[in-house]
Parts: sequence; structure tokens; C-alpha cells
Amino acid sequence: MRTVEVSDELQKYLDGLVPKRDSVLARMEEEAHKENIPIVDPHEGQLLYLLVKIAGAKRILELGTATGYSGIWLLRGTDGGTLTTFELDHQRAQRARTNFSDAGFGKQALVMEEDALTGLEKLDQRFDACFIDLLNVFPSEDSTQRAFELCLERLEGGALLMADNALRQGEVANPKNQQARNVARYNALVAKHPRLESVVIPIRDGLSVARVKDQLPG
Ligand SMILES: C[S@@+](CC[C@H](N)C(=O)[O-])C[C@H]1O[C@@H](n2cnc3c(N)ncnc32)[C@H](O)[C@@H]1O
Repeated sequence: MRTVEVSDELQKYLDGLVPKRDSVLARMEEEAHKENIPIVDPHEGQLLYLLVKIAGAKRILELGTATGYSGIWLLRGTDGGTLTTFELDHQRAQRARTNFSDAGFGKQALVMEEDALTGLEKLDQRFDACFIDLLNVFPSEDSTQRAFELCLERLEGGALLMADNALRQGEVANPKNQQARNVARYNALVAKHPRLESVVIPIRDGLSVARVKDQLPG
């Protein structure tokens, strides 16, 4: 069966099922709406939270912080864990730091204010989950592949690799522009990689979810 088409009526019904957000997340949603800041929606936020929680992930890596909305959902799933998140834009990085503090994560969130790929090359750490929210901005398929490789290298068996905009508004099925080709390359890399088992969840603009296979003994 095909994925059900989400009518306005069905969306309203689903919106009624998503948990009520606290004042910090509600304010951030309002600001993002007013200022056109591209953040995940609460359905996807709740999914990220649940995935992290189910996987028992404690050390989270994120590419693309914006003002910290998805970061707060991810951190809440860790139950005391940490987030290292990359944001190029100075103003957004500053706002994210304030928002993390407001949400009680001032000491658990590290906002790295630099290009994610440059920063990742230098990062000598391992993580239990990674959320890539930059697939729309890579300049080429090669840089997209490099980001995929750098993230995967930092994940061990049992870790999660997640990426937003995996559907690119449906363009991935027949990519006609560079961004769609980048996302299609990412999806193909994830689907074919021997260390990963994965699925694309058609929520919002599509969330790619992969789990790093446990290492074989010996
Ligand atoms: C889709 S938004 C992230 C939204 C955020 N994850 C959320 O849902 O709350 C992508 C962010 O990545 C930032 N960005 C763009 N290119 C970047 C790069 N090369 N390195 C780091 N951040 C970058 C943008 O400024 C933007 O704020």
C-alpha cells in the first residue's frame, strides 16, 4: 500500500496527537514561523526524541543547529547526554546557545560555530547518534558523500544515523537539480552501505533513519 496522502483534515488530526510543547519549544516554533527559520516540525522532533531514547544514545552529533529546536528534542531523548552541533551562522549559533540554556541544557550542548565539514574533519570523537540537517545545502554530490563518510566514521555499532529532507519534496525520485542529486546520492549511499540497515520515513520532507550494524565477533 502507498503512503497515505495527508489531507488538511488528517494533518489536523495528527497535530492533535503530538504532545503539547513546553514554553521554550512553543516560543521557538513561533519565532521560526515568523522569521522563516527552517526547523523540523514537532512530529519529527518527537520522532527524533523517541529514536534517541529507544537506541539509548547519549552522545549526539548534529549538522545544522539553526536556533536549537531539533537539538532540544534530541537532548531530551538522551536523558542526561550531550550534543555537539554545527552552525555556520553566528546569530543563529548565539540564539541556539541561549535556547539550550533556557531549556536547561546550557552545560550539555556545545554549539560549534563553523562549517560542519571542516569541523568534522578535526573532530576526534565517537557518537551514539548523528542527525544531519544540512542535506539541502551541500554544493555537490562529492561533498554530500564526504559528510556521510565523516559522520559514519564517528559512529560505532548500534549507533543511529539520521538525515532530514530525504525526500526533497519528492524531487529525489527524478532529480533535476544539484540539491536533489545530492540527496539522492545520500539515500543511495545509506541504502547500500554494508555497515547500515535503514529506512526512509515519509514524515514531513522525509527522515532517513539508519542503524550501524553491531560488529561481528572476531
Ligand atoms: C535546516 S537548518 C537546521 C534546523 C535545525 N536542525 C532544527 O530543526 O531546529 C540548517 C542550518 O544549517 C546551517 N548551515 C548551512 N550550511 C552550513 C554549513 N556548511 N555548516 C554548518 N551549518 C550550516 C544554516 O545556517 C541553518 O541554520
